[in-house]
Amino acid sequence: MTTARPAAVVVLAAGEGTRMRSTTPKVLHAIGGRTLLGHVLATARDLAPERLAVVVRHDRDRVAAHALELDPGVVVADQDEVKGTGRAAWCALAALDDASRVEGPVLVLAGDVPLLDSGTLGELLGAHVADGNAVTVLTTRVADPAGYGRIVRDGEGHVERIVEDRDASPGERAIDEINTSVYAFDAAVLRQGLEHLQDPDFAATSNAQGEVYLTDVVALARTHGPVRALETDDPWLVEGVNDRVQLASLGAELNRRVLEDAMRAGVTVVDPATTWVDVTVELAQDVTLLPGVQLHGATRIAAGATVGPDTTLTDTEVGEGAEVVRSHAFAARIGASAHVGPFTYLRPGADLAADAHVGGFVEVKNSTVGEGAKVPHLSYVGDAEVGAGSNLGAGVIVANYDGVSKNRTRVGAHAFVGSNSVLVAPLDVADGAFVAAGSTITRDVQPGALAVERAQQKSVPGWVARRLPGTRWAAAAEAAAGAGRGEDADGSDGTGGDQA
Ligand code: UD1
Ligand code: CA
Repeated sequence: MTTARPAAVVVLAAGEGTRMRSTTPKVLHAIGGRTLLGHVLATARDLAPERLAVVVRHDRDRVAAHALELDPGVVVADQDEVKGTGRAAWCALAALDDASRVEGPVLVLAGDVPLLDSGTLGELLGAHVADGNAVTVLTTRVADPAGYGRIVRDGEGHVERIVEDRDASPGERAIDEINTSVYAFDAAVLRQGLEHLQDPDFAATSNAQGEVYLTDVVALARTHGPVRALETDDPWLVEGVNDRVQLASLGAELNRRVLEDAMRAGVTVVDPATTWVDVTVELAQDVTLLPGVQLHGATRIAAGATVGPDTTLTDTEVGEGAEVVRSHAFAARIGASAHVGPFTYLRPGADLAADAHVGGFVEVKNSTVGEGAKVPHLSYVGDAEVGAGSNLGAGVIVANYDGVSKNRTRVGAHAFVGSNSVLVAPLDVADGAFVAAGSTITRDVQPGALAVERAQQKSVPGWVARRLPGTRWAAAAEAAAGAGRGEDADGSDGTGGDQA
């Protein structure tokens, strides 16, 4: 790693990206939880440049707003109607010079090359500074160089110039060393080269595309000092996104790399092929990811936790040793050793304390579930506080919305809410209180009280025998009554079965 610091990094992002066939600008498409431009800006920032510029034109406002949102320190440079990478670099340099003249090494990057890492850029910059180069271009060798600019070397093997695919001779097209569009320039060399290229007498745009090519600065730079190439043997690092097929393949490669880093750091990934983890996710040691897991955004999984199978977590924190099975969570917090799922939906503000248990077909939103509390089956908990050690039985619904406003419900510690109860907010069920199954509770329940809200059960004896004589129901009832008499004689308690 170098200690050299770039005077400026320039990111070219003014191109149209027509092959994406999208209403979204190319550099705003995302892989691994970040836009293409987001990846490039993050890498650029890692190098601690004195200045950072992004060149925009196509869908200018959206790209500029996104760049500024990611990094308020960027200088947004507008490219005018003159086309080409050379013009783009020129506009960036002019915008930077406007504030104060750039001097020293300038890195130029393309906004659509997301996998390029700061290690490789550091090497490029280090070599550029150490060798006192006028230009250092990052190159690679590919099996099919079609479409790329080729690196033309002289008889002694020195870089002579770069020729674009469309302008190349058949002999030049056979060259497999390509321009990655990543360069370190000396600022003065870049400025002079671009000025020269745009001199009307020079006719620099007499190429197949009628554009000002940044690549042409390379040949001009030879009068200023050494022009060298740094070759990388990892073509993924320099691959650009031009269409959605490349977007998917680079996305998959990025994911493969994120998972490989995680595994090397002590994370078990049972099935890397079906596991997708954003670059922003943090995974501690001995986390286990089962097949079909997607982890997005600011998700953080603590040591020893198990996630999956088939679970999607976004901006969610999972505590040590917790288990999250077949669930979906967004902006939630799951405490240490808590158990979630299968089939649980945690919405923003769901906050489960340590050892909490939230089970199947339970939805929790903007609510705390206390330590060791249980919401095991078929419930909705919204805008509520459930105290430590409490239990909400199957089918308990917190009715937090009266059609106009949302109200809060508090269930104290060690409270017990029977199955199929509705807690109508605003409501307070105090510590150690009980709610009988099937109750609709609208008034506060005092500590240790039992609240029951149900009609009295009525039984009509002999109804089947009178109304449905001779049917299978009547026969079953008669047989049971007979057997019951027999068992009573044997000393049975007559409750008709196990009620535990
Ligand atoms: C460019 C290089 C080519 C190299 C290839 C690597 C030139 C002339 N050619 O070709 O040698 O092999 O990249 O991928 O530089 N851009 C602007 N303004 C413009 C045009 C482009 O900002 O007027 C930006 C684009 O948004 C993109 C980058 O520059 O981020 C590269 O442009 P692109 O059109 O993709 O260049 P290529 O034809 O791929
Ligand atoms: Ca390109």
